[in-house]
Amino acid sequence: MKLFIDTADVDEIRQAAAMGVLDGVTTNPSLIAKTGRPFEEVVKEICSMIPGPVSAECMSTDAEDLIEEGRRIAEIADNIAVKVPLTVDGLRATKALSADGVKVNVTLCFHPVQALLAAKAGATYVSPFVGRLDDITTDGMGLIADIVTIFDNYDFPTEVLVASIRHPIHVLEAARLGAHVSTIPYKVIAQLANHPLTDIGIERFLADWRKSQQSA
Ligand code: E4P
Repeated sequence: MKLFIDTADVDEIRQAAAMGVLDGVTTNPSLIAKTGRPFEEVVKEICSMIPGPVSAECMSTDAEDLIEEGRRIAEIADNIAVKVPLTVDGLRATKALSADGVKVNVTLCFHPVQALLAAKAGATYVSPFVGRLDDITTDGMGLIADIVTIFDNYDFPTEVLVASIRHPIHVLEAARLGAHVSTIPYKVIAQLANHPLTDIGIERFLADWRKSQQSA
């Protein structure tokens, strides 16, 4: 499973990249707004930091505007994936942009049949939001299981990009289900590496080593 980081903060991207675990980046308008920086400047900088795909989201809603905006965003760098919403207009834009050879990430997916349409329209990625479903007492990971099954049934090349991840168990379940990508906030990436028994183990080894009075 590929690991993307869900942020527009370049320091977080640098730290995750230094861990050697980063395959790509996803941003959204809220994350870009949080940086306080202009959209194009921050997206260009992120694209220069990692070779993997960087998802940058269109703000338009109408199909023609989405297509025009998507083409503009795709020109920012070779490793851009253009994000469009999972609406009728978004699907029309997906078809047009994919035909141009642009990678499209269809976002805000909350139902398996929405994902089916995104795959048929030619999306490179579809982004089901698990955390936001869990927030309204609906099984987010159940959505991932359904989409993975449907895409396998028909050999769709569209990748399932698990989004709105809130904790390490979402990542574990996504990997168990065979999702292609998880996009994860930096805080959760750091949590994935942590285990109390690892920390206790290090403490014990260091204490025994100090007692032996040897030097490394
Ligand atoms: C995905 O690409 C989105 O940026 C993201 O995962 C949304 O997550 P949230 O529900 O935590 O805002």
